[in-house]
Amino acid sequence: MTRDYIKLTNSRYRLGYHIAAPAGWINDPNGFCFFKGYYHIFYQYHPYSASWGPMHWGHARSQDLIHWENLPTALTPGDPEDKDGCFSGSAIVKDDRLYLIYTGHHYYPGDNDPEHFWQNQNMAYSDDGITFTKYKHNPIIALPPKDNTQHFRDPKVWQIGRNYYLVLGSQETDGLGRVILYKSANLVDWTYLGPIAKAKTRKTEGYMWECPDLFSLDNQDILLLSPQGIEPQAKKYLNLNQTGYFIGELDLTTNQFKRAAFTELDHGHDFYATQTMLAPDGRRLLFAWMAMWENHMPEQQDGWAGALIFPRELKLKGNHLYMNPVKELTQLRTRTLSSQQFELSQATQLVKTQAQVELQLTLDLNNFKGHHFNLNLTDDHDVAQLILNYDIATHEFTLKRKDRSDPRYATIKPTNIIELHILVDTSSIEIFINSGETVFTERFYLPTKPSIWLNSDSPLMLKSEIYQLSNEAIDYGIN
Ligand code: FRU
Repeated sequence: MTRDYIKLTNSRYRLGYHIAAPAGWINDPNGFCFFKGYYHIFYQYHPYSASWGPMHWGHARSQDLIHWENLPTALTPGDPEDKDGCFSGSAIVKDDRLYLIYTGHHYYPGDNDPEHFWQNQNMAYSDDGITFTKYKHNPIIALPPKDNTQHFRDPKVWQIGRNYYLVLGSQETDGLGRVILYKSANLVDWTYLGPIAKAKTRKTEGYMWECPDLFSLDNQDILLLSPQGIEPQAKKYLNLNQTGYFIGELDLTTNQFKRAAFTELDHGHDFYATQTMLAPDGRRLLFAWMAMWENHMPEQQDGWAGALIFPRELKLKGNHLYMNPVKELTQLRTRTLSSQQFELSQATQLVKTQAQVELQLTLDLNNFKGHHFNLNLTDDHDVAQLILNYDIATHEFTLKRKDRSDPRYATIKPTNIIELHILVDTSSIEIFINSGETVFTERFYLPTKPSIWLNSDSPLMLKSEIYQLSNEAIDYGIN
């Protein structure tokens, strides 16, 4: 008997240019790669309901990072190697073939304890980038190392010369999160090289490190990961789980990653489980899940849940990772709504009821006599639903949401010129501050299209360019 995939029942919160599933649940981006002329992105997908369930891999591809075409489900769980789920993983191209390396999830039969599971690592491949065949000798990594708990997942693979390496998210039996490293000459036979980095303490660095990614940028090695269990500290680590990075150096003679402190990558409520790829033109591109475990997602009532962020480019400047929307964003612009320079002297509506809009704002604080400014996203009664406040004295941004009681914070490097680059979609906003030094990623849920206002407690000089963006960038086909 075949079950039918869930269907959308209402499109009020559907996004215009962010990847989501045709219907059903999604979480982490997986298998981000470039193969035979297309960027491919896969995602953790439960097609039978708008809640997490046995994980499939959903799939979309694009020639320009902007217009995405939905493809058939790439991986379906249920084979002996992935009985209860095809969990997160990555992709690599070898000899004109696309390989997916992913985690198989297995519950022990006989009890309903969700923590009572085991995990292994598997492979699937494709020559056309559309249909995938599971490798017949799966698993490729059957068991975790002896000093590991059952948490053993999310392989990220890359190539150095003739060899392939992969990192896995793991938990040591002492209850600390860590990343472990493997090496292979053929993608099939893997040698365990040991743990390369590990949490110092559970409270400060977490009990399990999910979704590791290791890459070089500007002659530094960066370990990007999503630790579970870091405790909140004043205005930091406020989400249930964090995503952030260590800058350091991977030494392949000792298999150690020497590293500096953990830094959160995004300051919003809805950002998790990143994955990067190296684009053919050398850019380091990033996707993430635009959500967080246990966040309220009203779209579940409508037959879907979760989306990916708009793809971003990563840059390293002075030991800090900057994120910006990929430059192809300009191709999404359908109309210039306004382009002006003026003195803002009272609360000003910059955008009126637009679902898809981009704002580029430059605020000159050189002669500013006030203490703060606010950017507000408002409903059709002009009630602010999301407020981004900047405090001149402390250089601190605070983001408040009317639907939540827990603000988010970020302090920027002191400067008198503040640039805000903002991407609004039907139910999401991504705010890039000062060329991507600081980013807030958020979902919001309004019955009507939002407006955007700016106000300050004293006049300030503002330059603003505002564009309408396409709402037809994602092609779901006949789903
Ligand atoms: C991260 C994660 C991964 C896992 C996947 C399961 O959000 O928990 O560690 O592979 O989601 O869907």
